[in-house]
Amino acid sequence: MGEKPVIEARALTMRYGPQLIQKNLDFKINRGDIFVVMGGSGCGKSTLLKHLTGLYEPASGEIFYNGSSYTEADADERQKLRSQWGVTFQSGALFSDMTLAENVALPVRHAGVSRKETVELVSYKLALVGLAGYEDYYPSQISGGMCKRVGLARAIALDPDILFFDEPSAGLDPLSARRLDDLILNLRDSTGTTVVIVTHELASIFAIANNGIYLDAITKTWLDQGDPKWLRDYSQQDIVRSFLARGEGT
Ligand SMILES: Nc1ncnc2c1ncn2[C@@H]1O[C@H](COP(=O)(O)OP(=O)(O)OP(=O)(O)O)[C@@H](O)[C@H]1O
Ligand SMILES: [Mg+2]
Repeated sequence: MGEKPVIEARALTMRYGPQLIQKNLDFKINRGDIFVVMGGSGCGKSTLLKHLTGLYEPASGEIFYNGSSYTEADADERQKLRSQWGVTFQSGALFSDMTLAENVALPVRHAGVSRKETVELVSYKLALVGLAGYEDYYPSQISGGMCKRVGLARAIALDPDILFFDEPSAGLDPLSARRLDDLILNLRDSTGTTVVIVTHELASIFAIANNGIYLDAITKTWLDQGDPKWLRDYSQQDIVRSFLARGEGT
């Protein structure tokens, strides 16, 4: 008996009012996958992440988590699911008037963890992302790459089952981007977290992802899906192959 996919989209169609963003998305994400959402700017990658994290309702179609429909879940079941996810959005800035420790502690507040345990947990998570000792700094006092890592620390504060990450390495220098990739890989390997990531950084895609989907802005549906390395070499879709081959030899 195979394990049910952690996430499965069936005929998922997403709109903002009358504006169709993507239609008929069918895909499965398995436990421990690092699943990358690919496609040109504006094709709907962030929109997909917001649907997968329950922020928006599908216009039609359904999303299943471990085999259960989110659409049919009641408020309690939805809340229970959401409590098992860690999310960092594209614009997911830190709160500038809170210290790094306070930012990371945010999701912990309602989890019934004592104050002392929270302090320890926050320090542990900050250390995991290479920021031991930075508890009392404010976001304005650290670099952009460090802010990204604090965002990750916050997202993994409660050991999420699924980690959603929108453009984690955007704006980072190659070395910091590489470190973030290693962090995500280590996290998956040590905790078995499933990771859904939006990125167009080819180096990151090939370094960490084992599965993914390419969304097309013109036809407004997926063109291909699978292991990005396989798609680069064997996709029947020229657009997908050239998107993934862009960085070759550079
Ligand atoms: N809240 C919203 N209300 C209405 N339209 C939106 C909203 N958010 C995004 N859009 C539109 O939906 C489309 C897809 O946006 P989305 O942010 O999902 O793209 P993306 O693939 O993440 O792009 P990028 O790579 O630039 O981040 C765009 O045309 C955008 O203008
Ligand atoms: Mg986006």
